[in-house]
Amino acid sequence: MKRRQIVAGNWKMNKTYEEGRELAQSILNKFVPEETHVIICTPYIHLKSIHNLLKEVSRVALGAQNCHQEKSGAFTGETSPAMLKSVGVKYVIIGHSERRAYFSESDELLASKVDNALAHELRPIFCCGEDLAIRESGTHAQFVENQLKSSLFHLSESAFKNIVIAYEPIWAIGTGKTASPEQAQEMHAHIRQLIKQKYGSEVAESTSILYGGSCKPTNAKEIFGKPDVDGGLIGGASLKAEDFIQIVNSF
Ligand code: PGA
Repeated sequence: MKRRQIVAGNWKMNKTYEEGRELAQSILNKFVPEETHVIICTPYIHLKSIHNLLKEVSRVALGAQNCHQEKSGAFTGETSPAMLKSVGVKYVIIGHSERRAYFSESDELLASKVDNALAHELRPIFCCGEDLAIRESGTHAQFVENQLKSSLFHLSESAFKNIVIAYEPIWAIGTGKTASPEQAQEMHAHIRQLIKQKYGSEVAESTSILYGGSCKPTNAKEIFGKPDVDGGLIGGASLKAEDFIQIVNSF
């Protein structure tokens, strides 16, 4: 089975309501539907209005950046998968390194977020990746393996088929320092091998594994050219329609 090529934008905590509408509209104005699937992951305040802009456009889907692990209840300030689904969200980023670091999200918590998202038919974009100290100690492959085993590999095969993985080395996020295409390929191949061991080659071959970390129009082509890299999760460069669309067109 041919894997989906995906470019997902992660706006993080950027753009007011009006700015967000303008950005989404200018992405759509420049977007020419080809093979690539585009996902726009916005802050919660934009979801409904951007869903209204996107809903007629094929190959462009809406994503959120987080969800809560419980279905509903007294969790002030939080948002549930059912709420996200009700405004047209299809994907949700789970386990971004910023949430792991600044909001103390553990592997166990992320496993329950993954379960809750899947229970509401949202597709998790599950992030993994090591920091610089781990990379320099040479234990990055084992580290990422533990992240996947702790938060994803409890899933059944049919549930796992809904997962998109994003490998994001923390030392490359927002730093301007990208992993080399070879470093990305090496980790992506490792991740695919782990999926194969757990779920078999059909599932491994059909799982999209995205690269994230200072991906830009100038380096996307080379990174996406690697056989196990199926696209990107784009932070900074997703905030400019022109750069984002150039990355979308980098396959
Ligand atoms: P960056 O962020 O592209 O700004 O490095 C990527 C991410 O954090 O998803």
